[in-house]
Amino acid sequence: MLNLKHIAIIMDGNGRWGKERGLTRSQGHYAGAQAMEKIIDASIEMDIKILTLYAFSSENWSRPKDEVNYLMNLPVKYLKQKLPEFMRRNIKILVTGNTEALPESTSKALQKSVMETENNNGLIVNFAFNYGGRDDILQAVQKVIYDVQKNNMELDQVDEALFQQYLYTKELPDPDLVIRTGGEKRISNFLLWQCSLSELYFSDVYFPDFNEELLKRAVREVQERKSVHHIS
Ligand code: IPE
Ligand code: IPE
Ligand code: MG
Repeated sequence: MLNLKHIAIIMDGNGRWGKERGLTRSQGHYAGAQAMEKIIDASIEMDIKILTLYAFSSENWSRPKDEVNYLMNLPVKYLKQKLPEFMRRNIKILVTGNTEALPESTSKALQKSVMETENNNGLIVNFAFNYGGRDDILQAVQKVIYDVQKNNMELDQVDEALFQQYLYTKELPDPDLVIRTGGEKRISNFLLWQCSLSELYFSDVYFPDFNEELLKRAVREVQERKSVHHIS
């Protein structure tokens, strides 16, 4: 069976999940955060090495202020609650995105969990937070130009492998599979460079209802696709 090493998930549908239950969009986000647990469990069980979770996009700043505040505070609350468990389960946390532009309490909470789990070597849970695919490529281009101007390297040395080293995800392989929950069929500025060759899978289920079984179903379907069409 083909091995999927890295799965990336666009966790969409939290707001609608809340609204449809007569709750607030923020309560939907809370339920979404809790649902990550099931996905982490299933990933460990399936021997997935890396799980990237799109938690806040560079476009999400344009949402109502209250919702943005809630989303900025969620990592503070969530990571405080879950960190002991991440340690117990040997989970390593990474963060992908422009963390410099975050409120201090948010970036501190993220940094703390990255540092505390640094030496864990189990599942990598990589939070894409204040992430935009265009921003990722643009900041990489700026750093490349800087290094060329400083004579640290020649322009013709810049190939795909080297460019990849300038992306926010430099230490990670590209995702084998990108899943979007919540029914929309868009990439929404997620890993643009990195998902060039990835399998895509769309589920109508809102993220708070996404679970082990649905993740396993997605993986099975993609493995079947790959075994039928295995010529690259
Ligand atoms: C995705 O859920 C989570 C974030 C963007 C933080 P949404 O908030 O986009 O939920 P819907 O798509 O409005 O239902
Ligand atoms: C994508 O969902 C971003 C995250 C899941 C964090 P959005 O709901 O923000 O994307 P659009 O607005 O449908 O493109
Ligand atoms: Mg959405």
